[in-house]
Amino acid sequence: MIIEKEQTSCVRLYNDADFKNLKKAGSLAARTLEYVEKLIRPGVTTDFIDKKANQYLNEHGAFSAPLFYRGYPKSICTSINHVVCHGIPNDKTLNDGDIINIDITAILDGYYGDTSKTFSVGEISIKAERLIRITYESMMEGIKILKPGINLGDIGFVIQSYAESNGCSVVRDFCGHGVGKTFHEEPNILHYGKKGEGIKIKKGMVFTIEPMINLGEYHTKVLPDGWTAVTKDKSLSAQFEHTVGITNNGYEIFTL
Ligand code: MF3
Ligand code: CO
Ligand code: CO
Repeated sequence: MIIEKEQTSCVRLYNDADFKNLKKAGSLAARTLEYVEKLIRPGVTTDFIDKKANQYLNEHGAFSAPLFYRGYPKSICTSINHVVCHGIPNDKTLNDGDIINIDITAILDGYYGDTSKTFSVGEISIKAERLIRITYESMMEGIKILKPGINLGDIGFVIQSYAESNGCSVVRDFCGHGVGKTFHEEPNILHYGKKGEGIKIKKGMVFTIEPMINLGEYHTKVLPDGWTAVTKDKSLSAQFEHTVGITNNGYEIFTL
């Protein structure tokens, strides 16, 4: 593995063998998400989903990356309605009409796969449905332009343009990140920005794109538990996340 020094940041470049392993870890994280999706319904607690996700990871030879990460107490993040990210599973039950983001990061053979999706619980409002769709599409806008030579700012620009032209806002306080043999590494991936800003993307880079999109304003605050981030105006927030690797002429999504 080469460590690239660019400006003040150190961005790791991963090789073909690393890509194989990252795809295994990413695919397991995605399958865990698929597995827990079937458990989502009104009346189920997020603790239950957390326990089942961790069990699934362990049964498949993997570990949860969030568990005990910087003191984080659970195996997954469950962010409901106006919770932007890092919601901590607890003994409260899901309600009909909730939206819930589930974020899973697997460690398999030393490689990390990080992915999340926002799901609906029972019947949800049309505006919640629309927010989920816009958020997914904004992530895909960011992914589909990926190739060596573009700038990090180009990713933020297309995501922000898409979200804002649809009347939504982009969270500034949290971003995507390099990932691979550690959970969070350089570079930061902002989901807003200007074309041409930031470092150039190179073959071998691996990072997440994980926009958090709000129906209201973009401002957030962290609750006294030290983790749970919510929208200041209590508006609904959604998020999707994929881990991607940059190839010779494009990208590969590891978390499918
Ligand atoms: N998976 C989250 C991310 O996308 C990070 C969760 S860290 C935790 O970066 F400690 F809150 F779990
Ligand atoms: Co992430
Ligand atoms: Co994540």
